[in-house]
Amino acid sequence: MEVWPGELPPGRDWLIEHVRDAEGLLCLLTDRIDAELLASARELRVISNFAVGCDNIDLAAAAERGIVVGRTPDVLTDATADLTIALMLAVARHLPAAEQHARSGEWRTWEPAGWLGLELRGATLAIVGPGRIGRAVATRAEAFGMDVTLVGRTTELRTSLAGADVVSLHAPLTAATRHLIDAATLRAMRPGAILINTSRGGLIDQTALRIALESGHLGGAGLDVTDPEPPAPEDPLLGAPNLIVLPHIGSATHKARAAMTQRSVENLLAGLEGEPLPYPQPLVASESQQSSR
Ligand code: GLV
Repeated sequence: MEVWPGELPPGRDWLIEHVRDAEGLLCLLTDRIDAELLASARELRVISNFAVGCDNIDLAAAAERGIVVGRTPDVLTDATADLTIALMLAVARHLPAAEQHARSGEWRTWEPAGWLGLELRGATLAIVGPGRIGRAVATRAEAFGMDVTLVGRTTELRTSLAGADVVSLHAPLTAATRHLIDAATLRAMRPGAILINTSRGGLIDQTALRIALESGHLGGAGLDVTDPEPPAPEDPLLGAPNLIVLPHIGSATHKARAAMTQRSVENLLAGLEGEPLPYPQPLVASESQQSSR
């Protein structure tokens, strides 16, 4: 067994060199496992991804080579749904800016019309991607009194989003969902609406998002994921108003990460034994197969 010891992801050369003779690979979502890398990994039989989303892996290339791929579903659903609600509340009630105001000495008095935000009870939430995490967010949002609509990616996306005060993204990243939220979709959203993304940064055209925030058309956005990760410090998106950006911490609870560890090891060992993986990722990245995130 070889373990990459670094804090940052291994470089491409290290990965290619060390996967070359490996029979199993346990990787993170920060490791790009593409066709070129797989072509040089002649012994590889199983890839166990320490994540539920497998967009970092070329699933078609893995399938062609008979390499099975495992992921860690279910155990991070609640953690990610909790974080989605936390982001939604933080954007809706301007928490980072209000906290900064309280600490900075600018806070002078209680103002009847100060810091007004969106109240969740009675607000409409459109959940794009009604898989496990999307449905868990729906349950929580309903407890807050929100009016929830589950939106499939192929249905009338723009029409559904037009009626929402908050839009939350829970779709996997595939060729079909890249930039699902583009300038036209953002324009179709209700003025003042809030956009939340705890799935994958690539779902949003970030230039279009920045413009929608800067123009005031969108009321705010909360991103736990960006494209790329991390964003460059000079990325103008980071200066957009009413934007909260988190460092991809959706599944970062003690409980979820321990269970992800367990599941990814179970997948790896099963694959090495030539047994069916307990938590397989469908080998072909088709729309329907990936809709159950
Ligand atoms: C995290 O983003 C995951 O896909 O597990």
